[in-house]
Amino acid sequence: MSEYTPKLQVQLNERLMKLKERFVQKFGKTPLFYAYAPGRVNLIGEHIDYCGYAVLPMAIEQNILAAVSVDESQTIQLANANPQYNDITVSTGDLKIDRANPQWQYYFLCGVKGVQELLGLAAPVGMQCVVDGTVPPSSGLSSSSALVCCAGLLTAEANRKTLTKVVLAETCARSERYIGTEGGGMDQSISFLAEEGTAKLIEFNPLRSTDVKLPGGAVFVIANCCVEMNKAATSHYNIRVVECRIATKVLAKSRGLDWSRLMKLGEVQPELGASLEEMVQIVEEVLHQEPYSREEICQCLGITLECLCNDILSPNTQHVTQFKLYQRAKHVYGEAGRVLRFKAVCDRAGAQAIQELGELMRDSHASCRDLYECSCPELDQLVDTCLQSGAVGSRLTGAGWGGCVVSMVPVDTLDSFLQRVRESYYQPDARRAALEKQSLFVTKPGGSSHSVSGVAVSQHPPCPVKGPHASSAGVSI
Ligand code: GLA
Repeated sequence: MSEYTPKLQVQLNERLMKLKERFVQKFGKTPLFYAYAPGRVNLIGEHIDYCGYAVLPMAIEQNILAAVSVDESQTIQLANANPQYNDITVSTGDLKIDRANPQWQYYFLCGVKGVQELLGLAAPVGMQCVVDGTVPPSSGLSSSSALVCCAGLLTAEANRKTLTKVVLAETCARSERYIGTEGGGMDQSISFLAEEGTAKLIEFNPLRSTDVKLPGGAVFVIANCCVEMNKAATSHYNIRVVECRIATKVLAKSRGLDWSRLMKLGEVQPELGASLEEMVQIVEEVLHQEPYSREEICQCLGITLECLCNDILSPNTQHVTQFKLYQRAKHVYGEAGRVLRFKAVCDRAGAQAIQELGELMRDSHASCRDLYECSCPELDQLVDTCLQSGAVGSRLTGAGWGGCVVSMVPVDTLDSFLQRVRESYYQPDARRAALEKQSLFVTKPGGSSHSVSGVAVSQHPPCPVKGPHASSAGVSI
């Protein structure tokens, strides 16, 4: 049964009613069904999913909702409840995704295209959709992946196909790469595998999730630093992905492994039978701290520049000339260890749990800032402010370079924490002060992506939105 608080349930149903009205205005008919996909906050485990390591996120209540109907038109008519976003109409057989211009509709089309291709649909149905989102864009809370997941889910539903949550998550993770970022799959996985009331350890290859019960006595607070970061619009993210890929190959070659087939730092560890702590030592022994030039990498691996550019670099990292391998690899193995320790502390639920988790979060932020260099001055300032305001742990969440921090705050100091963060970070700056209401909020683990029947929404008073049918891998939605 859904554990949504009555207030959230009412808000969601109000949004569904408004969405229905908009849909009727726009398309002159009622929606056939609705789809829901949540954003997420990552508690720990940053920039390690694409290296094959487990991460520890939870879904948040902010989400993407879509109202949908189908017809034989062979077109997709897409509108957004927010008038700032343009409507589009495209043919179902000709979905073009413009990487150079990563606008909202392309994320939607990524999800549609991924599921169409997976299902091998010869004649996908035409769809009319109105989308309404409450995940703040470019804030590190996965608004783009929630949109991809929502589109993937509704495409399967519209074509009357049932896919498991795991298949949907993997398909949406793959298809979001059509936009150009080589993401790792955390965001899509938690969007489909989340469950109310619990964070999840998400592991890859094969994709699976395990409940992580967070200790009582503390809450997680999200705070947006008010610097926007659209990871598809810059090459920061993909540069980190290729730095990790090159570090994988240089480490593997130094240990006599078949380096050419290894792509992820997480693949080197089992080949060497080493612990994560030993992997950190190996990084220190093998890699040097100065950035590597292209020439040095080619020399280390015995490859040509052409081979480096074609087989290892991605299209938007062709211009990069310096690669920090030591720092990136050291972050990845260290952060992978912190995720496992975070879970172990939660499982043990000892008296010191909150302090121990706080320390892991602080170390994670320091590693993101100093080794992975995915923070920014505003994120660092906000993390410091949160720690000085009573948080036991605070760290950037998501890709970084802007967006949000997540802090762990003892329940009994929550009010003074919020007050002090408002006074120190938001109120002194007019732009931040204007954004404060949607930028600082307490969050709880929310439920997963699911579809909602159209009939239910027409009921009044507000109907319950169906919760996730099952939590674990391999269960149909
Ligand atoms: C983005 C990506 C994820 C993950 C995080 C960083 O959210 O979509 O796959 O890599 O950044 O942890």
